[in-house]
Amino acid sequence: MSLSFEARQKVTYALLKEMKKRTENPIVTISNKFDISKQTIYRYAQTLEKEGFIRVDRSGKSNVYSLSEREVHKSFNIDGLEEDVVWRDYVLPLIKDVPKNVLQVCSYGFTEMLNNAIDHSDAKKVYIDVTEDAVSIEFMIRDYGIGIFTKIQQALGLEDPKHSILELAKGKFTTDPARHSGEGIFFTSRMFDLFYIRSCELQFLSERNKGKDYLYEDLDKEDLKKGTCVIMEIEKDSDVVIKDVFDMFTAKDDESFGFSKTYIPVRLAKHEGEMLVSRSQAKRLIRRFDRFMEVILDFKDVTEIGQAFADELFRVFPSDHPNVELIPKNMSEDVHKMVMRAMSNRTIQ
Ligand SMILES: Nc1ncnc2c1ncn2[C@@H]1O[C@H](COP(=O)(O)OP(=O)(O)O)[C@@H](O)[C@H]1O
Ligand SMILES: [Mg+2]
Repeated sequence: MSLSFEARQKVTYALLKEMKKRTENPIVTISNKFDISKQTIYRYAQTLEKEGFIRVDRSGKSNVYSLSEREVHKSFNIDGLEEDVVWRDYVLPLIKDVPKNVLQVCSYGFTEMLNNAIDHSDAKKVYIDVTEDAVSIEFMIRDYGIGIFTKIQQALGLEDPKHSILELAKGKFTTDPARHSGEGIFFTSRMFDLFYIRSCELQFLSERNKGKDYLYEDLDKEDLKKGTCVIMEIEKDSDVVIKDVFDMFTAKDDESFGFSKTYIPVRLAKHEGEMLVSRSQAKRLIRRFDRFMEVILDFKDVTEIGQAFADELFRVFPSDHPNVELIPKNMSEDVHKMVMRAMSNRTIQ
């Protein structure tokens, strides 16, 4: 029995995704997953090869499949550069066969990140790569300017550039409040499937729906000593809708429907080997919470917190800021106890 056109497309797309992951034997995996014979899947692979979507290396014991990529590099002088013109004239024509929702995310993310290089980097040039294959689209925007984490560190007088990552994760952070709102990185990182910022030998990584906002330290790459490199990737069948992402960060009582709710992975406040115990760590976390109506605090990967940290966060801060609702999530038993203890002290004057 042969499959309908739609079913065949679905299987082919799954096969392409599997090939992109470079798993050992994508033909067998997909054959098992959809309960379709290996011969049939193999024929699909042959068609994909003929049509130029994949490459097959037959030199080893078993075939190795990879997706064909189209890659375009461009560089521009920043002086007088306009992000929407670059998008329209150079990038949009390269993006083929993508649904409207994905195109809108690409347009938003690309122009926001290019605008950042233009407005914030103090660099003279910006380098852009667009890479497309059958499954996804990736953008890289690279400048050799001041470096994002250094810029934020200097603006806030932070003792360590690593603390800049926490500020970016909170959102609404900008070094230029007269002309900017501090939303670009926050929202772009939540729309793309993968989003990295590399700078200063540090990396901020966000993977949509996987709850990851990791700080990778010590990338130790000579090339990352200067400037900022942003990489973002989205799969062509992504179901993300820009408006829904904005709506996710509007507090329930916000009548102006603005960016009034944020989500913070608490683990970003601690560094390798550290425990969250002190008031100063809590104050670092709390900084700029008052710009939001709701703050979700995700304690995933934070197994314990100290009494002073909990007291500052859940008693002192709320008594000074009754209009900001703190919503702790994913608490371990120990963290939960500390939070309850701090909250119960709220009423004791
Ligand atoms: N390429 C860059 N080089 C240096 N600093 C940057 C760069 N991109 C972003 N930044 C810093 O990160 C901050 C946040 O960026 P973003 O979220 O886009 O907000 P906004 O552009 O509205 O300020 C900027 O205000 C700026 O300080
Ligand atoms: Mg911006």
